[in-house]
Amino acid sequence: MNKILVTGNAGFIGSWIADALVGRGEEVYGIDDFSGGSRENYSGNYEMFATDLANPNQVKQTIKEIKPDIVFHLASCAREGASQFQPLYVTQTNYSAFMNLIEPVIKYGFKKLIFTSSMAIYGDQKPPFSEDMPRRSVDIYAINKAAIEKSIEVLADIHEFDYVILRPHNVFGLRQSLTDKFRNVVAIFMNRIMRKEPLYIYGVGEQERAFSYIEDSLPSFIRSLEINNEIINVGGRYPITVNHLADLICEAMGVSEKYPRVYLPPRPREVKHAYSTYEKSERLLGYEEKVGYKEGIERMARWAKKCGPQEWTSEVLPLQNAKMPVTWGSTTPHAP
Ligand SMILES: NC(=O)c1ccc[n+]([C@@H]2O[C@H](COP(=O)([O-])OP(=O)(O)OC[C@H]3O[C@@H](n4cnc5c(N)ncnc54)[C@H](O)[C@@H]3O)[C@@H](O)[C@H]2O)c1
Repeated sequence: MNKILVTGNAGFIGSWIADALVGRGEEVYGIDDFSGGSRENYSGNYEMFATDLANPNQVKQTIKEIKPDIVFHLASCAREGASQFQPLYVTQTNYSAFMNLIEPVIKYGFKKLIFTSSMAIYGDQKPPFSEDMPRRSVDIYAINKAAIEKSIEVLADIHEFDYVILRPHNVFGLRQSLTDKFRNVVAIFMNRIMRKEPLYIYGVGEQERAFSYIEDSLPSFIRSLEINNEIINVGGRYPITVNHLADLICEAMGVSEKYPRVYLPPRPREVKHAYSTYEKSERLLGYEEKVGYKEGIERMARWAKKCGPQEWTSEVLPLQNAKMPVTWGSTTPHAP
């Protein structure tokens, strides 16, 4: 039987993957430092290590204990927009964390890496982004993801392991952090409504994204165990605007479409139209949109209402200037 390590197992996507693997009868291990994930997301049905991947000595010790055969690497500070205002931390938890992990993992003779990269690596090209388009990152988070992708190709060639690079986009659903004001618009809008704060929209709200409900993407993440050495987009088929998303979330949360919205200047380096092709994921991973974004939003809204309104993270970004959105400061504008 293979030992499968899931990094970021206390996070949103990682917790779903770890539990699905346990459900298949796999021997599963987790690594998470709880910086972005939560203890509630850890089911307790497998062993996990509270290891900080940015600390190479801690990682070496943990990998020596687990000696995994297969690694799903999801741990990351994935705040794309905020990465310009905390570039060191984002690099420590992405590129450095990857190197801290991959060296001991190779040393103890693993077989395969499944890495969740991101649609962000395509940058500002014309959508839909297909896997054969070049990497054209326009922000620090995406630069990290692209550097990891390229490093995987180099190291897999020299050290002879298999890999799958997944490029998800705009995943949302139950277990996603409702407290992080720096990322995940669906969760942020839901918590804003529960906190009776306005919905802040950057620019005119006509940005387009294809929102991907977790239970639609999960089977494809798991099926990546069965293929090798491919790069694949995974996620929703249907792009919608942020304004339309706000309408759907208001309806699902049971408030009027006239719920207050505050339009702010566009976020620096935000790509306006970003969505991906899905044909390769259908062909190789059997991707199917069974729930879809509308029903997914309703399911998440029911869960969010059960969780209730949450305090926003109090974290202060180290590099602040006038280009930083006001919503990322230490106080929430227009708070009740
Ligand atoms: N959610 C999306 O829409 C989306 C889209 C594209 C790519 N991804 C990628 O998928 C992965 C998972 O994303 P998510 O949305 O579940 O995020 P998440 O924040 O819920 O999960 C990431 C987990 O990594 C952990 N982590 C961060 N730094 C760590 C460190 N130094 N050591 C150990 N653990 C650490 C966090 O505590 C958290 O539990 C990330 O790599 C992200 O870049 C997510």
